Amino acid sequence: MSGTVRISLRPLGAAFDVARGSPLQEVLFPYGVEFPCGGRARCKGCRVRVLEGNLPVTPEQARILSRKELDAGWRLACHCRAEADLTLELAQWEAAILSDEAPFSFTPRNGLGIAIDVGTTTLVAQLLDLRNANVLAVTTALNRQAKNGADVMSRVGFAVNEKKQDLLTGVIREQTGSMIRDLIHRSGANPASVTDVVLVGNTVMHHLFCGIDCTPLSRYPFEPVQDGLVSLRAEDLGWETGGRIRFLPCLGGFVGSDILAGVLAVNLHRSDTPLCLIDLGTNGEIVIGSRDGLLCCSTAAGPAFEGARISMGMRAATGAIAEVDLAGGRLVCKTLGDVPPRGICGSGLVDAAAALLDSGHLTPSGRFTAREPSIMIADPVALTQTDIRELQLAKGAIAAGIRILLRISGLAPDDIARVYLAGAFGNYVNTASARRIGLVSFPPEQIVPSGNTALRGAKRALFDEPSAYDALAAEVRHIPLDRDPEFQDIYVEEMGFPPE
Ligand code: FES
Repeated sequence: MSGTVRISLRPLGAAFDVARGSPLQEVLFPYGVEFPCGGRARCKGCRVRVLEGNLPVTPEQARILSRKELDAGWRLACHCRAEADLTLELAQWEAAILSDEAPFSFTPRNGLGIAIDVGTTTLVAQLLDLRNANVLAVTTALNRQAKNGADVMSRVGFAVNEKKQDLLTGVIREQTGSMIRDLIHRSGANPASVTDVVLVGNTVMHHLFCGIDCTPLSRYPFEPVQDGLVSLRAEDLGWETGGRIRFLPCLGGFVGSDILAGVLAVNLHRSDTPLCLIDLGTNGEIVIGSRDGLLCCSTAAGPAFEGARISMGMRAATGAIAEVDLAGGRLVCKTLGDVPPRGICGSGLVDAAAALLDSGHLTPSGRFTAREPSIMIADPVALTQTDIRELQLAKGAIAAGIRILLRISGLAPDDIARVYLAGAFGNYVNTASARRIGLVSFPPEQIVPSGNTALRGAKRALFDEPSAYDALAAEVRHIPLDRDPEFQDIYVEEMGFPPE
């Protein structure tokens, strides 16, 4: 028997050899895994999930982990040794994956349906009883394509420049297939009862999943292939379960079917009064309209809202500063997971900028008043002048997109009855801070954090005839912002912070 074993870590993608019998606490610590209670089996903060291999359950683990967690493969790293090759998922890298339990109207049908939100970073799938829309099981995962690029453009680059589109297509089909198996297994449902599967995602996820050439998305004018609703067969996807499998259509350059699903979720297309849906991510997608017509656009906000390109930025995971408040002139921070801060996520960044503006440490032009290169938010997490610049670029792009859609619609912010903020960042961002930094200028009472509208819309689509979505997609007018003569000027204007 070899004296070493191989450890692979997800989603980090690291793999390395260690001496057989090594305590996981020693092995994982260099990879940034923290042991909040010092390995005393009190906090569960060091949880890992066994994806391949075996870690025996010790009495300490049986005491603190539930039967469900143990059955799902969760173990306490602080009470395990590497006795054999292992593939482990690290709970501390879990993203805040938004599922959806909000009610919606539907016409009952027979059978079971599966809705899948195929995100660039995260995947969420729900199994529904179509007679009553009850959710029978939910499963979430980090998108395994992330190993080949964190954002959509690096994924497109990998697919097109390195000619690896087939690999990415295979990865996402295989992973969603295994999520479906997981849903069936957890619910005890009969796989043959699944009559419908609806998938939604941004244009890149759509093209990669459906096997549509991503080359048009890699170069100007970045227009997706508009094939309408794509129907797929389980056997072509390598899935065991199927029924009618449909990926909802995209709306235009970087406005995918996740936004079409969002429109369905908030009933924007049926509203008598104008509504607005904003999905805040690397691309900010915006839809404004009512039953009289819908306009949409996409703005390249950059990854600041997801914590990327910020010197100490990170996703909304354990150790991220997610809230910053000003109390008695001092910054007070809240960190996810109740551990010492190790970075700042998008909502913390917006809060921090708002607090720095209010405390006079930041000017409306975006400069630190003290002329220091950085400001400490909570040791060791500081923001630099470049970080503030990244935030200004991101929020300026969103604010400019909103302004242009309002102008084309002939509407003012006050005319919009409701503004739905979708996606994980939209759900958690403090709306007062978002207004303070000028990310949105709508009256606060109009702003509604709306969760995962993409998943909710996909669920609604399980109950409708497929043709409805091609018709709806055709009704939405896509506005390419880069072709708007005023865009650059408005963008520059919107990069500044409101004076108060
Ligand atoms: S470190 Fe607290 S349970 Fe392992």
